[in-house]
Amino acid sequence: MTAEPLEHFLDRHEQLTAPFPASLPLVLRRVHESDLPELQRLDAEVFQEVAYPGFLLRQLYDMYAEHFLVLDDGTGRLRGYVLAGTTALGRDSWILGLGVTHDRRRNGLGRELMTAVLDRLRRAGIEQVRLTVEPTNRAAILLYRSLGFDPEEPDGGLRPDYFGPGMHRRILRLDLTRGR
Ligand SMILES: CC(C)(COP(=O)(O)OP(=O)(O)OC[C@H]1O[C@@H](n2cnc3c(N)ncnc32)[C@H](O)[C@@H]1OP(=O)(O)O)[C@@H](O)C(=O)NCCC(=O)NCCS
Repeated sequence: MTAEPLEHFLDRHEQLTAPFPASLPLVLRRVHESDLPELQRLDAEVFQEVAYPGFLLRQLYDMYAEHFLVLDDGTGRLRGYVLAGTTALGRDSWILGLGVTHDRRRNGLGRELMTAVLDRLRRAGIEQVRLTVEPTNRAAILLYRSLGFDPEEPDGGLRPDYFGPGMHRRILRLDLTRGR
């Protein structure tokens, strides 16, 4: 990965060409309005029946573009994204989306996306970040746990029917003030 922390590049140039271990160099950058159709395609590819409807992605972009990062492969295709939503008055935030296309998984990209957005949240003065994850989503849970997320008690973070009947979720939380 880059010798210099990712966020230093993002600060100076708003984008970074990183030597990701894939056939094409991917650019990690903030989302642009013109990305929205491709972002919707990517979200549908990764999340299928639980993908965001296009109108909601549009409004999430309107509200949270600061914390909306994509992986651009340079051919017009996006290969991953992460989105964090922040509260207006508090110092709270939620990861609202994280996905990498199948063909690019297990290359450290999910971790790069998360690390980049967590750095941005920290620098914006956000104090905690939470997320929901399917209790059976081992890959995502291992990634989040390795980044320092812990279950939000009670019940080890398990929230039955959180998104409706049968749609259980686990809530994980990271204290962003640790180590400040
Ligand atoms: C979760 C997801 C974003 C991970 O992206 P990725 O680029 O493959 O992840 P990384 O290569 O950065 O892996 C980071 C860590 O995640 C864990 N991990 C990722 N994929 C894993 C798998 N298939 N099995 C076990 N652990 C896995 C490992 O701890 C890994 O660290 P390691 O490589 O040191 O072992 C990706 O699998 C994805 O898009 N899944 C579908 C969408 C989704 O579930 N999003 C999260 C919703 S809460």
